[in-house]
Amino acid sequence: MTPILQVEKLSKQFGGLMAVNQATFSVQPGEILGTIGPNGAGKTTLLNLISNMYAPHSGKVLYKGENILGYPPYKIAKMGLVRTFQSTVSYGEASMWENMMRAQLGYHFLGLWPEFLITRAVRERKKIQTEKAETLLRFLGLEKLRDHPAKALPYGYQKLLGLAIALAGDPQLLMLDEPAAGLNHDERVHLMRAIQKIQENGVTVILVEHDMKVVMGLCHRILVLNYGEMIALGTPPEIQRNEEVIKAYLGEDTEIA
Ligand SMILES: Nc1ncnc2c1ncn2[C@@H]1O[C@H](COP(=O)(O)OP(=O)(O)OP(=O)(O)O)[C@@H](O)[C@H]1O
Ligand SMILES: [Mg+2]
Repeated sequence: MTPILQVEKLSKQFGGLMAVNQATFSVQPGEILGTIGPNGAGKTTLLNLISNMYAPHSGKVLYKGENILGYPPYKIAKMGLVRTFQSTVSYGEASMWENMMRAQLGYHFLGLWPEFLITRAVRERKKIQTEKAETLLRFLGLEKLRDHPAKALPYGYQKLLGLAIALAGDPQLLMLDEPAAGLNHDERVHLMRAIQKIQENGVTVILVEHDMKVVMGLCHRILVLNYGEMIALGTPPEIQRNEEVIKAYLGEDTEIA
């Protein structure tokens, strides 16, 4: 099968620090690839490089076989490569509903004049957007909170809103940066089910996460970074018994089950 993503010798340096050094891996369509590693290991930088928020010092990123380096992030998102952020990102004053509608505008804006004159195409577009916002909020169990201002929501719900906003972009490859951070136990279980369902709907996922239960429970393969170096790539059982990973990150007595 042709990989949906191929990362070849990708590197990023900040001053004297190699934040990501020669990362090389590929992601198969339909796969959930976990990315783990200690704080500062380079996980977020890797996502920033793939989504072109940072220019790499060297290396290549092929998305569906196309070299996307140099493409602006909005173009990459339109091609179906969408990411969420480690911090929550939404319009705080706006309600969840308004956030969902705004999130889709970037993808479906029809131009100033059609929008101003509210043409039939605009009405149709708004109907589709409304249906999609409803479906996604229901999918993530957020529909009862749709009229709440985003900033007044508990942190866990703000994170889920970030996921809903990302899904509004119809991703084919979705990159999630620590979606479970700050969530309580029930919210985590809810999130894991949601990620599973997203994958079952045909979306490929790259999941950066510290929560080992989430990572081991969901991922087909796991990539381990340490000080910018890829130290392992394998299935959850392979990663759990990898000596170097245990030393650098998991620790001898990590409880995963
Ligand atoms: N914009 C930047 N300018 C300078 N240094 C940076 C920048 N972004 C990241 N770094 C450095 O690069 C290294 C990797 O950072 P990165 O945020 O990718 O780590 P991470 O694995 O996501 O960590 P965490 O688990 O804490 O989120 C760190 O040493 C960090 O301080
Ligand atoms: Mg990070």
